[in-house]
Amino acid sequence: MQPTSLSTNLQQVFISLGDRSYPISIGSGLLANPATFDGLASAHTALIVSNLTVAPLYAALLQESLKKHYQRVLLVNLPDGEVHKDWLNLQLIFDALLENGCDRKTVLFALGGGVVGDMTGFAAACYMRGVPFVQVPTTLLAQVDSSVGGKTAINHPLGKNMVGAFYQPQRVICDLDVLTTLPPRELSAGLAEIIKYGPIADMGFLDWIEANIDALLRRDRAALAHAVRRSCEIKAAVVGEDEREAGLRAILNFGHTFGHAIESGLGYGEWLHGEGVGCGMVMAARLSQALGLVDANFVVRLRTLIGRAGLPVVGPILSTSDNAGRYLDLMRVDKKAEAGEIKFVVIDLPGRASVRSAPDAMVRSVIDACCGQAGSL
Ligand code: NAD
Ligand code: GLY
Repeated sequence: MQPTSLSTNLQQVFISLGDRSYPISIGSGLLANPATFDGLASAHTALIVSNLTVAPLYAALLQESLKKHYQRVLLVNLPDGEVHKDWLNLQLIFDALLENGCDRKTVLFALGGGVVGDMTGFAAACYMRGVPFVQVPTTLLAQVDSSVGGKTAINHPLGKNMVGAFYQPQRVICDLDVLTTLPPRELSAGLAEIIKYGPIADMGFLDWIEANIDALLRRDRAALAHAVRRSCEIKAAVVGEDEREAGLRAILNFGHTFGHAIESGLGYGEWLHGEGVGCGMVMAARLSQALGLVDANFVVRLRTLIGRAGLPVVGPILSTSDNAGRYLDLMRVDKKAEAGEIKFVVIDLPGRASVRSAPDAMVRSVIDACCGQAGSL
């Protein structure tokens, strides 16, 4: 029998942004329950944006639930993968909207991981100068990070997430059931973004992750529910204070400056985003140590946890002639860079982060110590 009210396992986190505030719902059975979508602005048409991997698994379930709320529920599938997060494929969403005569009340539903979520959000920000959208994240990474906070973007060949907009969803629906089909490598990628919240904001959460990493890798439902909720709480608090990254929000990019260099240096899709972030956190922790902010024990502790989560802890060699130089060149196109000066998120003390620059020579020595054979020592 179809459930008609929201189940008791539901947890909600609110992100407080004035008239752009919204709830993040976390629980089981949410996609299959039409009540999950009660209260959204009324519209004639809903367009589900998904991809060729996720849609066969979950689009029919979502379509059935949405049919209770919309007269037309359309579906457009994007090709799967970071390499397709570009202009060409963004156009597929606009094609579907225009070919079906979608008006400015049409609601977009992003059913997929961070790639689908970022692209759908950007399309929603642009179509008719802005239509509502709902995030239905299906990867762990998307549930704990990318679906929350309104950053939307596509990649440019010269830099990751370089073209985009801040545009908040109406709601985020984290159905834990969908995580059962997630490949193990993708689960680990999501754990990287969960681990991130410890050193930047909550060392008690880091203690909890260390104690529960095996349960998380086993996909224990209670452990996942706690990890998703606490991650969303921390992200909601940071974004609530600094929606457009004037300052504080940058701490959410811990590990990302090195990680983005790895992702674009190897070619998008070679390493997963979460893998780049995992290894990038090891490098950013080493840089924090070089700056005299944290001790070696902290770096070892973080590196050990990242390794236990199934993530790489040794940076790849991006150039055999001047590896550190190649990293530096790639990091200069990071969005935090100012007039060519690279900005790094470093740990000031465990549980607190800030954005700083560092001398090139110091960054070079960190890269040399963390990459290739030297990194595995
Ligand atoms: P992804 O979207 O590529 O998804 C990973 C893979 O898992 C894909 O092959 C996808 O089809 C598949 N998949 C998704 N859900 C599945 C499920 N339930 N079962 C089986 N397979 C499933 O990758 P991701 O890690 O979710 O997201 C990474 C992207 O998110 C990057 O582009 C990154 O830049 C972006 N991101 C954005 C923000 C933000 O604040 N907007 C934050 C972090 C990351
Ligand atoms: N993932 C970083 C941010 O949302 O700001």
